Amino acid sequence: TSPLFGRDCLTLAEYTPEEVSLILDEAARLKSLRRAGAPFQPLRGKTLAMIFQKPSNRTRVSFETGMYQLGGHAIFLGPQELQMGVRETISDTGRTLARYTDAIMARVFGHEEVEELAAAAEVPVINGLSDTHHPCQALADLLTIREEFGSPEGVRVAFIGDGNNVAHSLMLGCALTGAEFAIAHPPGHAPSPEVVDLAHRLGGSPHLTEDPYEAAAGARAVYTDVWASMGQEDEAGERRKKFLPYQVDEELMSRAAPEAIFLHCLPAHREEEVTAGVIDGPQSRVFDQAENRLHAQKALLYLLLS
Ligand code: CP
Ligand code: NVA
Repeated sequence: TSPLFGRDCLTLAEYTPEEVSLILDEAARLKSLRRAGAPFQPLRGKTLAMIFQKPSNRTRVSFETGMYQLGGHAIFLGPQELQMGVRETISDTGRTLARYTDAIMARVFGHEEVEELAAAAEVPVINGLSDTHHPCQALADLLTIREEFGSPEGVRVAFIGDGNNVAHSLMLGCALTGAEFAIAHPPGHAPSPEVVDLAHRLGGSPHLTEDPYEAAAGARAVYTDVWASMGQEDEAGERRKKFLPYQVDEELMSRAAPEAIFLHCLPAHREEEVTAGVIDGPQSRVFDQAENRLHAQKALLYLLLS
């Protein structure tokens, strides 16, 4: 059995560096199998419940397709359907779903919601994004970096923008794989001190600055995300002003390493957090990165369920 069998994936910090490497190795192997058109269906007869309290393209479609490709089935449960926490407690939802399905994926607002599900459900619970973590995104990001540079180890990754869920998971992922992580954030938008501490405990030494040029210097991956995340729509106007100096543009990319790639979890807003020239230009790997959600999550599902 896999060392990940039966476990949850809430933050990535629950895994050792060896376990993260195992997921990435498996993801690369499943990607080549898929490229070769070779079927791999170890999850026949298994189902995944997918709880979405927020919208999604990549997470939903990659999990649903991934489950199907592995021989299993996925069930989409939108917010109107479940009314989690309204029709019944989060815990009762988790306990019930675990009686039907083999794993639960959940996209939620507060991170405690996914923790509550995991505590209640006797099957693996995967965080498909909470307000503080997005571990599946970080796995795809690391896979993309590995494909480009051979290994994440020693690669400087610069995140420019909000110290949010995506930045947190990337910081933890870098700590677990030996990548160097720097973030440039506007005043008042630093990553959470708890997550920074956690990254230190995992062996990382994240560099925090308010200067985008300082973070980007020598970086081989320059990463950004939206300025207003899901649930922060009313702050969008105010954030736009504060975040404008943190736009990833050609000038900022020119301060990174010559071989630098541009990454973004998507969805993206051209001419806000990134210029069209950068995201649609030769350094961009955003669609490889989006594709890698599929391979990374298939590897995760396979390792958690077999
Ligand atoms: N990157 C990501 O999680 O995309 P979706 O919100 O479309 O799922
Ligand atoms: N930080 C963004 C990521 C979307 C994939 C959000 O939470 O909306």
